[in-house]
Amino acid sequence: MTTAHHETDHTRMNDFPRFPPGFVFGAATAAYQIEGAAREDGRGPSIWDTYSHTPGRVANGDTGDVACDHYHRYPEDVALLRDLGVGSYRFSVAWPRIVPDGSGPVNPKGLDFYSRLVDELLAAGVEPAVTLYHWDLPQALEDRGGWRVRETAERFAEYAAVVADRLGDRVPRWITLNEPWCSAFLGYSVGRHAPGAQEGRGALAAAHHLLVAHGLAVQALRAAGVREAGITLNLDHHLPATDSDADRAAVVRADTLHNLVWTEPILAGRYPDTEQETWGELITGLDVRRDGDLELIAQPLDFLGVNYYRPIVVADAPHRESDPALRVATDNRYTEVPMPGVRRTAMGWPVAPGTLTDLLVDLGQQYGDALPPVHITENGSAEDDEAGPDGAVHDTDRVTYLRDHLTALRAAIDAGVDVRGYYVWSLLDNFEWAFGYAKRFGIVRVDYATQRRVPKDSYHWYRRLIAAQRA
Ligand code: FCB
Repeated sequence: MTTAHHETDHTRMNDFPRFPPGFVFGAATAAYQIEGAAREDGRGPSIWDTYSHTPGRVANGDTGDVACDHYHRYPEDVALLRDLGVGSYRFSVAWPRIVPDGSGPVNPKGLDFYSRLVDELLAAGVEPAVTLYHWDLPQALEDRGGWRVRETAERFAEYAAVVADRLGDRVPRWITLNEPWCSAFLGYSVGRHAPGAQEGRGALAAAHHLLVAHGLAVQALRAAGVREAGITLNLDHHLPATDSDADRAAVVRADTLHNLVWTEPILAGRYPDTEQETWGELITGLDVRRDGDLELIAQPLDFLGVNYYRPIVVADAPHRESDPALRVATDNRYTEVPMPGVRRTAMGWPVAPGTLTDLLVDLGQQYGDALPPVHITENGSAEDDEAGPDGAVHDTDRVTYLRDHLTALRAAIDAGVDVRGYYVWSLLDNFEWAFGYAKRFGIVRVDYATQRRVPKDSYHWYRRLIAAQRA
């Protein structure tokens, strides 16, 4: 890098995008990825405990047993949030801490932990935003069928009511589910997330029961009188590899599988009209939908959470699987192809910030007034960070990623999309699911041997960006 380039870049680093007054800046985490204390204070096992303890499932055999030890170190982590100056912190509640067996007795010590965390946040001037389900299903419920069966949705609503009853007076923003796409399709079709199943209909049934769980949980949250209820979806922006009709049709299948399967029922009260073209007899034969489900699923929401990391370029492809039951997410007659000419993060994900603007503008056009205000509930990048002797991390690539995505977000607001908040993923380096601790998304470095936290350059940059809004 030449000096001249460096200086230009440095100037741009301090040229912060400005957001409308009241726009919320936040940071996000999830229970299993940071808490540790997996067997403490009555917590029951979740599908992620089982999965991560199964040899060969997670890189390096990593588990969330200790993770960032946030369960014990939360005061230090809240202090980091306070110094960062964020207005909101998005964390998830571990269902197996609250209802260890998935149904039956509630564990008061689990509720006490989150109550302490909420009080600590409020004392630090940070508003809590709670995700009720970030993938840690109680193992006992998986043993009875997991998301393949409707009972799990009913148990989820009961758990939601218990948590809202205890924290609802102090937590303004509630997210029912995080990225149900991952729960249904990575969990029950691709098998790269817990419970690691590879099924066809099972995954489609799981998707439906997650939608039902969302609807029932919104009802429970409303009954508890919470201020804001919403859901977080990982919406994807798909681009065709070429202009051919076949590749464009592949984009429709990818959009159906990733986005429309959620946005159509939730925002428009209908199933995607492209589901037949996408899943054929697998969806026609699905017998888990009941009368009244669409009304239940399409409850009015106060916000839509969108997690966004990267675009996906797709090309038409023939079926590869011989088993038609698996042709749900693993083999949908399209394949992901590399995006030319862009940098890739440590996840191998292409960096193309303008696609965030496109995604949001398209969403606004698609749903119009039916689209509630949007919060970007996750955005960030995994980089191959190198810590200096003092632990400092000069993560220029992450700073550039965040700056360019925030600039793209600002452009979506200028184009008329009602976006109210942005949460960086993640406050801390943490357990990145099947990648274990090998992938670092944090703006704060965690040295897992000592549990020492060291803010990276991106943390300092984000702090300055937040402060600049007030200047
Ligand atoms: C999202 C998850 C989050 C984290 C990021 C990188 O899919 O919601 O827990 O793993 O990706």
